[in-house]
Amino acid sequence: MTRRGFFRKAVIWALSGAAGIIASVPVIRLIINAQPPPGLMWSRVGDIGALPLEEPVSMNFEMRSGEAYMHQMVLHDVWVIKRSASDFTVFSPICPHLGCHYKWDPGTSHFECPCHGSVFTMNGRVIGGPAPRPLDTLPYRIEGGTLYVKWERFQVGIPGKVRV
Ligand code: FES
Repeated sequence: MTRRGFFRKAVIWALSGAAGIIASVPVIRLIINAQPPPGLMWSRVGDIGALPLEEPVSMNFEMRSGEAYMHQMVLHDVWVIKRSASDFTVFSPICPHLGCHYKWDPGTSHFECPCHGSVFTMNGRVIGGPAPRPLDTLPYRIEGGTLYVKWERFQVGIPGKVRV
């Protein structure tokens, strides 16, 4: 083999190798970005230092949804009640009757659902309307003054708290 032939082959091999590396980058990124399914992840909700005691506060957070290669950020909200510096209650904002979003009414000190009139105490107990169970709590943890929540959905319209 001539020297020119050798260098020509070497250049072709080098270019083929570089093309292979470039082509594999998306696959490597998929593997690195792979995450557990949504609903099993902790989502950062926000700082809890300034929250008032024994007063429900609606807090929003973004959560990654979908598979690693086709994901989008979804906005969720939760009701957070600070009981003490380390004790909180986090309610799903979804009414357990048929899934509407309920609100806190500071005038009556109740959670009230506008759809069919279910009423709940600050502890989530049903005191009026057709809701078949108390408000659904969500798992949470506190880390460095920040609240993290595991977003989960539960079947509506049934007495039990059954994950969807
Ligand atoms: S969805 Fe809330 S009372 Fe029906």
